[in-house]
Amino acid sequence: MEGNLRVQLAGLTFSYPCMLASGVLGYSAETMQRVIEAGAGAVVSKSVGLKARDGYTNPTVFQAKNGLINAMGLPNPGIETYVKEIRHVKELICQPLIVSIFGYSAEDYAIVAEKAATAGADALELNVSCPHVKQTGAEIGQNPNVLSEVVKAVKAAVNIPVFVKLSPNVTDITLLANAAVNAGADALTAVNTLKAIAIDIETTKPVLSNIKGGLSGPAMKNIALRCVYDLKEKLPNTPIIGCGGVSNWQDAIEFFLAGANAIQIGTAIAYEGPEVFQTINLGIKKYLEKKQFRSIEEIVGLSHRR
Ligand code: FUM
Repeated sequence: MEGNLRVQLAGLTFSYPCMLASGVLGYSAETMQRVIEAGAGAVVSKSVGLKARDGYTNPTVFQAKNGLINAMGLPNPGIETYVKEIRHVKELICQPLIVSIFGYSAEDYAIVAEKAATAGADALELNVSCPHVKQTGAEIGQNPNVLSEVVKAVKAAVNIPVFVKLSPNVTDITLLANAAVNAGADALTAVNTLKAIAIDIETTKPVLSNIKGGLSGPAMKNIALRCVYDLKEKLPNTPIIGCGGVSNWQDAIEFFLAGANAIQIGTAIAYEGPEVFQTINLGIKKYLEKKQFRSIEEIVGLSHRR
């Protein structure tokens, strides 16, 4: 199956173009192994910070029309504990492991980055886009100066590729992307969830314990796609990983045509299980053959051609 599905990005080679998005099945080594066996080209872990966090109380997930709204609150065991899991994942899988990290300051990000890299992460994805946890996530990624400081600090701390996961909750995503790339980001993941809310008409109150959360899934696909398109237009030489509502091979092709070099899948796994990777890989392969393209690279950004 591999053949023309291989993609290269930021110095890493992926046998398949679809990665596991952060936050879904990315907690334990065994679940990540399962996803790789199902046809993912890489896995992105759940975001990990310097210290353990319990996350929010239930309810933390709501099934909306065509998507999910979640506010987990960045639950994680802290990097000191998580390094054992990183080492264990590296024993189980031979595809790249990308560790998603977050912090409350540039220094926090740098410390977590260094520990994750030393434990064996192949790349890092900076979560500067979680839409609802205070003093981190989007509060960092919506400010170009703070974002730049964080990326510079992480780049100075590690020698592995650094991806920056951008927020769609901004006026012009390319301004933030520029700041990240000028600070040394090796690739951009576009995008995290859209800030959203659900209200229960019986109780008359918001459904989620945190009130607001992030919308993922098909409901946001065309917004994520537009973000990728904008980024490709402004930063044509920066690798882009498309993320947001990909649920079938047609969606994946749209993201490549918009400018993504690879894609991430999250919510579709909740609906269809890890088998969705195999189905999407097969669909992409057949499309390339039918259209007589030799590789995914040949179609990246094709929709920009006039
Ligand atoms: O609630 C959460 O843990 C979500 C994180 C994110 O959207 O980045």
